[in-house]
Formats: sequence, C-alpha cells, structure tokens
Amino acid sequence: MTTSRAEAEIQQFVASTPKSKSLQDEAAQYLPGGSSRGTAYFAPYPTFVDHAKGHYVYDVDGNRYLDFMINATTHIMGHAHPEIVEVLQEQAERGNSFSGPTEAQVRLAKNLCERVPSLETVRFTNSGTEGTMMAIRGARAFTGKHKIAKFEGGYHGSHEYVSVSVRPAAEDLGPDATIPVPEHPGQPPSITEDVITLPYNDLATSERIIREHGDELACVIMEVVSSSFGYLEGDEDFLRGMRAVTEELGIVLIFDEVQSFRVSPGGAQEMFGVIPDMTTFGKIIGGGMPVGAWGGRRDIMALFDPSEGAPLAHAGTFNANPMTMVAGEVVMNHLTPDVYERMNALGETLRAKLRAVFDELEVPAQVTGVASLFGIHFTDKEIVDYRSALSSDGDMTKALFTGLLNEGILIQTGGAGALNTLTTDEEVDALVDGYKAGGARGVR
Ligand SMILES: Cc1ncc(COP(=O)(O)O)c(C=O)c1O
Repeated sequence: MTTSRAEAEIQQFVASTPKSKSLQDEAAQYLPGGSSRGTAYFAPYPTFVDHAKGHYVYDVDGNRYLDFMINATTHIMGHAHPEIVEVLQEQAERGNSFSGPTEAQVRLAKNLCERVPSLETVRFTNSGTEGTMMAIRGARAFTGKHKIAKFEGGYHGSHEYVSVSVRPAAEDLGPDATIPVPEHPGQPPSITEDVITLPYNDLATSERIIREHGDELACVIMEVVSSSFGYLEGDEDFLRGMRAVTEELGIVLIFDEVQSFRVSPGGAQEMFGVIPDMTTFGKIIGGGMPVGAWGGRRDIMALFDPSEGAPLAHAGTFNANPMTMVAGEVVMNHLTPDVYERMNALGETLRAKLRAVFDELEVPAQVTGVASLFGIHFTDKEIVDYRSALSSDGDMTKALFTGLLNEGILIQTGGAGALNTLTTDEEVDALVDGYKAGGARGVR
C-alpha cells in the first residue's frame, strides 16, 4: 500500500529499479506475490538482489545498498565473508549433505553448549520455526501438559501453535493482551484455548494468568530481547519473575534466541542473567545457511534420544547438513568477547546518534535496541510491549524505509536493523546521515 508521505520516495525508487520491476512482474506469474517469503516483500516491489559482499547488497539494476537488514540479522560477519566462502567451497567438493552425521556437527554443538548457560545438549534443524516447534513438543512431552503461553506480539516462526496474537491489527485487539487472536483464517478454533497470551513486561498480569492455567501449561515461550518490538529488552524484574513463576509451577521456560543470541557470547540469557530450561536458535549460528536449533536441559532433550527409545520423533533430511555446520562454525569461532564488545559499543553510539537526529528533526520517535540491534518507532509513547509498539506511525515508517533505500541504505521494513562485525564508525555515520536526508524527507 502506498501512502502520501511515501509517495515521492516510491516514485524515486521505481525510477531507479526498472529491472526489479520487470522481474517482479514475471515472478508474480509463478509465485504468489513474486516470492517465497512474506517478509521479503515490500510495496511497490522488493529490489531483486544480484549479489552481496561485505557490508553491501547490489541489486539487479546496479544499485548498491549499505545493508543493515543483513537477512533479518543473520549475516553477523557481513556478506560472502572469505572464510565462510572457503569452507563452503571445500565442503561442497566433499559432499553437501549425507544421511550420516559429521564431525562438524559435533564441533558446532560443543561450541554452543560451552557458551550458552542453559544448553546441556542441542539439536539442529533447518529453521528457527522448526526449533521453536521442537522445543514446544519437548516441553509438552516432558510435563505431560498441553497448553502453551506466549506474549502478545511475539513472533516465534510460522507453525500453528505460535501463530496466535503475532501481529493482530489494532481493531482486532481485545481489551487486553490475554485475549488470544488467531493469526490466520482457517486455524482450528481450539488454538485459542490451547494458546494463552500474555502482556510483555507486565509481570503481575502475566503471573496471574500463568497461575490460573498452571496445571495445563507445558511452557512459556518468550524473547528476552523482543525482535517484534524493535529489539526491546524485557525489564529485569519481569524476566526474573517469569523465571521464578515457571520454575515454581513446573512449566518449561523457553527463551527464543533466534535473533537475540547475537547480543553476547552466551546470548541474551547470559547478558540478562536469567537462565531458561530450553533455548531456541537460528540466524547467525548457520553462517548464512539455513539453520535452526533448540536445546537445554539434558533430561528434557533426552526425550529425543533414539538410543533411549526416543518417545519424540525428530527427523529432517537436511538437519545439521555439513554446509550449514561448517559455515556456522566459522561464525562462532569468529565471535570472541572483544568482537562483541566493539560491535555492541557501536550499537550504543548509533542509538544515541539516532535519538539526536530525531530530536533535531523534532519528530516524536523512540529508539529501542540492545547491543548491535536497533529499532525505531514513530510515537511519543514509551515502548514497553506490543500495544505501545503498535502506536508507531506506519506511514512514517514506510516513508523512512523507502527514503533510506533511495539513499542507498537497507534496513528492515519495520524500521529496525542490525550491525555486523564489519561495521565501523563510518557505516554508523552513513546510516545516521541517511536518516538525516532520506528519513527527514519522509517523516518531517
Ligand atoms: C524470534 C524469532 N523466532 C523464530 C523465528 C523463525 O525463524 P526462521 O525464519 O528461521 O524459521 C524468527 C525469524 O525471524 C524469529 O525472529
């Protein structure tokens, strides 16, 4: 949908992307909407990528974009990093997937278990979606209970049980976050009985609802740093309270660290000092190849152990394929504490500079984010949960996104983004300047 604020920016974008436009027209004949991924689409059409290298993405029209989208935070070492390219080439020559396990899988599993506080054992999948699905399956089997709780606005992938109250429209919202809203037409009505929804950062209400359903609740799945609210961190008391109440009632606490794992060597759980029973992963741990994982307490994970009779099935033709494992290993070896320290300090600088830009432009905006992650919301409300994030002005966000594209800068369509290990003050300043120019045109 085009908006009046974004109209001029969209016209400029269309003028500079004719090949993308014709590819989109062709693509739409064979793929609904022209692609295989809802989030890859933006109006009037996405730029078709030709290639990417380092901090930059190049589209088929020859435009170059300084990339802060980095495939939804995945490319933490930038695009086509020579070390990753090298191990992928080597692995491709040795075979790219087998029925049997490889040594690379053991090394990556060991690396993750050694750095993530909650991780005693882990299993790999091909997406974060599968990771959260399997973690929930494990929690249900372990507790013998079937309901799950999630937070309003929380995204945990695209399987059925987490597709409740993900992005409910303002007009569909109930009086409070504890009324679950099905995400898609045709979902079984039982979904709103089996999935309990909670308000993020509201410990009193969340705890009350969890206690009400305690006997039937297998797990609470949540993010410590909420990607859907512009990488907003959970309040410390709220996080500790969630840990305490789930522990007391025998409910498995699952931290979805598909995105937040990038904030420190041991993820957000280490940064905030709250340790869940299970953790899910994706994005950075596969070095840019398809990946997901879940893991945690040995006694829960043992339910997936075939040598123990495995009451729980977990198959997958490409699980832990060696291409993903070797690429992931390069990333995890590269991410030493000093690398995080430098990248996270730049994130701090960026957020401070963005706040100054919006003050200067006299635009009501909130800048959220943790470590190397940032989010922008056009509202004067403090962002604490889904409802406050929803108050952000969508037209301004669209204008900003398109304005930045026209300045040669790529962020997420919702206004958020991530740094990578190649980012320096120069790229931070280029992003800030982009906001001053393209951003200002659209949002003033
Ligand atoms: C927090 C979170 N959980 C789960 C997922 C699902 O991961 P995937 O897209 O790999 O299925 C995502 C994806 O963006 C995510 O951000």
